[in-house]
Formats: sequence, C-alpha cells, structure tokens
Amino acid sequence: MPLTPFKLERYFARYEFNVKYLLCSSDCESLSIGDLLRFEPEAEAGLKRHWLGYTESSGAPSLRQEISRIYTGIQPEQVLVHSGAEEAIFLFMHAVLQPGDHVIVQWPCYQSLFEIARSIGCELSFWEARLENKWAPDLDELKRNLRSNTRAIIINTPHNPTGYLMPEDEYGAITVLAQERGILLFSDEVYRELEYDPAERLPSACDINPTAVSLGVMSKTYGLAGLRIGWIATHNSKVLARMATLKDYTTICSSAPSEYLSELALRHRGQIVGRNLQIIQDNLSLLDTLFVSHAERFEWVRPRAGPIAFPRLMGGDVEQFCHQLVTSSGVLLLPGTMYDHPGNHFRLGFARKNMPQALAQLEQFLDARSTTGVLA
Ligand SMILES: Cc1ncc(COP(=O)(O)O)c(C=O)c1O
Repeated sequence: MPLTPFKLERYFARYEFNVKYLLCSSDCESLSIGDLLRFEPEAEAGLKRHWLGYTESSGAPSLRQEISRIYTGIQPEQVLVHSGAEEAIFLFMHAVLQPGDHVIVQWPCYQSLFEIARSIGCELSFWEARLENKWAPDLDELKRNLRSNTRAIIINTPHNPTGYLMPEDEYGAITVLAQERGILLFSDEVYRELEYDPAERLPSACDINPTAVSLGVMSKTYGLAGLRIGWIATHNSKVLARMATLKDYTTICSSAPSEYLSELALRHRGQIVGRNLQIIQDNLSLLDTLFVSHAERFEWVRPRAGPIAFPRLMGGDVEQFCHQLVTSSGVLLLPGTMYDHPGNHFRLGFARKNMPQALAQLEQFLDARSTTGVLA
C-alpha cells in the first residue's frame, strides 16, 4: 500500500519558513553551532580537524557511548544511530512487520507511528487518548485490543500532541504485558527528560523490557533538530541487526559533523535540558494566565512534561480559526485535523523564546474577534 502524505509535515512545509511566529513547534529553542562549540575550549579546533569521509554505519563509537549514558543498562553496541527519529521509525517498522501483522498504536499520534505499518499492510488498532480522561489511555482498552497476531505496541510518552506523561505503574504494566505476550514494544521517547518534575521521569522502555526498542533524537528535548541525529537503544540484538541491514538502503551512515556536534551536545545535555525546561516553565505560566482569561473559548489539560499541549477550541471551526490567525497575525497553530482528530483541538508549542510575542499577537487577535462579536 502506498504511503499517504504526512499531513502534519505537509502543513509545516507550507508555513514553517514563511510565518513570523511558530506557536506550535514541538522542538525546543535551538542553538547555533557557535553556542555548542563554546561548551568546550577545544571543540572548535576539533570540528575543523574532523574527518569528512564516510562514518561508521551504526554511528561513531564515541557518539554511541555518549548516547548509552542516557540509559541505565545500555551498552554502546546496543545503540543504532539514524538520521533523525523519522528514519528509525521507518526502519523499525520495516524490520519487524509483515503484511497481516496487527499493531496497536497510542492515538492521536505522530503520523509515521501508524502510517508506515499501514503501508506495509498491517492491521491497526488505535489506542485512544481522550480529553475526558485528561488524555490518559485506558489500560483495559489496550488489553481488549490484543489479538493473536499482535506483533507490536507503539507508545509515545511524554506524548505528542497532548503532553500526557504516563504514570509509572501504567507504563510498567504495559512493558510487562508486552513482554509476557511476546509483543514488541516500540517506545517513542523523543520528549523524555522534559518532565516538569524530574521525579516523574519514567525509565526508558529498553531499560526495563529486554525486547523493547526506545527511540531518542537530538531534535526535541535538546532543540537540535538540524543535526538530524536520532537513534534506537535496545537489548534486542535481532531487531537491531535487522534495522542496521535496512539502513544500508536509506542513509548508510550519518553526517560526520552532525555526529561530532551531537556528541558534544550530549556531553552537556544537563545544561541544555535545564535551559530548555526554564523556557518551558516561563512560557507555561503565561499560558496559565491566557487560559484563565479565555476560559470560555478554550479547554486545556495542563501537561506534565514536554513542549506541547492540545487545547480545544470551544466555538467555531479550528481549521478556520488557525487559518485566520496565521493570515492576519502571522502566528502559526496546528489544527488537530492534521492528526485526523475530530475534537476541534489545536497543538500549541511553548519551548520557543519568542513565545511571549507570539502570545501577545494571539491575544490581540482574540480581542479583535470579541469586539467584532466573533467568538471563536
Ligand atoms: C513523537 C515524535 N516522534 C518522532 C518524531 C520525528 O523526529 P525527527 O523529526 O527529529 O526525526 C517527531 C517529530 O515531530 C515526534 O513528535
């Protein structure tokens, strides 16, 4: 089956580089190469000396070493570096799925997390997160969805687009369930380390389930999307080997300067994450005020982690609302229809430094609509 267009990415392709304010980005504020190089006195000279030949297909050993430190029980050989998280999702699905396999996917979700399985010819069940449950999916529903041919469960926490952070007992129950049933757990952890309360950080799935595959990336938590470095970490040597074999048909190996800069950034990830969490916290307090003063227009569940949330517009059509906002004020929101979600939601991103200015534009837009009597 052919891959259908990636709605969210097509939407960003249309607007991302043409609008003044991105108020729906899922990555944290980025850094320049100069900012990164300033972390270490020798870094600039090291980058200039860095060799531009092909790199090791699995990822530079020193980078894999640095990535392995994110986990508690992962060795560098249990990491496979990719070009972004996107390549890893694509290769995971092609490595483990066959037509007719059944896959359960936490939903709404980033489209590739189900679309690739669909294109392979898999049966899909969507494990739905609902607003009335504050975006908590129901574990019994997951169990009811299980079939004899269920091959994989795909989860994402902290979650895109709702910002939902699974409680540890529920997360633990899923990892155990998958293990007991011999089902592969693919855990998209690209927003991990952005928990507002560090005590709520979940263990990586690969550290508690011997066959699970954890997905990480430089783009989101660390704000370094332009490096295009992602990875999987797993004790599952069969899946890792199969993905490594498929990678020869996609990118073969990663960009050498990106590997160098990723490793440098990861050596200082505590500082980078601290800075990004501070931006998020400052922006969240502005959002708290906005949602109180516009309680008649928006319903939202305050997230517990990550740079995004999924508020509901209570009157009017959300696509029209987003279109009018971007056209008149240059502020981009992402309508929930890009996730095929019917609930009149939009995605809000709040890890950018210019969010206060974007929010001021949104307020002006809302005020203008109130005075003209248009409520939505
Ligand atoms: C949940 C999730 N997984 C994977 C990705 C892909 O990340 P990247 O664009 O860095 O490859 C994204 C990007 O938005 C995402 O939100």
